[in-house]
Amino acid sequence: MVAAVTNEADVEGMRAAGRAAASVLEMIGEHVTPGVTTETLNEICHDFIVNELECTPAPLNYGGGGGGGQQPFPKSICTSVNHVVCHGIPSPGKKLKSSDVLNIDITVIKDGYHGDTSKMFFVGEGSILAKRLVQTTQECLYKGIEAVRTGAYLGDIGHAIQQHAEANRFSVVREFCGHGIGKVFHDAPQVLHYGRRGSGIRLEAGMTFTIEPMINAGKRHIKILPDQWTAVTKDHKMSAQWEHTLMVTDDGCEIFTWRDEEGTPP
Ligand code: MF3
Ligand code: CO
Ligand code: CO
Repeated sequence: MVAAVTNEADVEGMRAAGRAAASVLEMIGEHVTPGVTTETLNEICHDFIVNELECTPAPLNYGGGGGGGQQPFPKSICTSVNHVVCHGIPSPGKKLKSSDVLNIDITVIKDGYHGDTSKMFFVGEGSILAKRLVQTTQECLYKGIEAVRTGAYLGDIGHAIQQHAEANRFSVVREFCGHGIGKVFHDAPQVLHYGRRGSGIRLEAGMTFTIEPMINAGKRHIKILPDQWTAVTKDHKMSAQWEHTLMVTDDGCEIFTWRDEEGTPP
């Protein structure tokens, strides 16, 4: 069964969780400066999530229970710098420097519901390539979102994203995808960021999932570091990602994690 809301209380719960997650990204921006460590960003977000929002940071101790020998994720947020594709682990040894680009990925649990969202930050001024990759990746997210409505297909989302990324001579990471979300963090369906129009399941009103394209400046291939979490590009070129949590509606979707700074939703 794919993740979906079944009543108005679920919708309200997902709205509140999404708003809470978005507010963490709004809060942390001013702290992303040269010299700050990703560990400090983790601590600031953790304290805000727990003490201000009275929510639970979903990544902390997540995973590792699958019998595959993986260690649970040790921190409250993911911080993925430059060639890190996703699931970067905050660390006191990782000090940000001018011209770094990073993704901060926030997932909170509020009253049992999950809100999952990420955005890219520039440390100081971004290079022309970094700006182009980051902007194109955000456009990929928005084009994916624009493909969402009752009666559309999951593959329409992936097609829209892949089309835009490759038209800009970037590549789409295949190993990670968006996911159903609700009372469960990672649920069916898998929302691929590449694919064919009309393929996959038909979207129905009430389905709740994330779209979170990871787009590489170089080749699409990745590898996982020995920490078993950090995904990096094989060619060590830059990667970018943006993520929203949304619900399918009759004529489009409602984005639970929208931030005012983004303007009018697509
Ligand atoms: N927030 C990530 C996602 O978008 C998942 C992070 S899982 C963690 O699905 F364990 F790495 F935190
Ligand atoms: Co997600
Ligand atoms: Co996420």
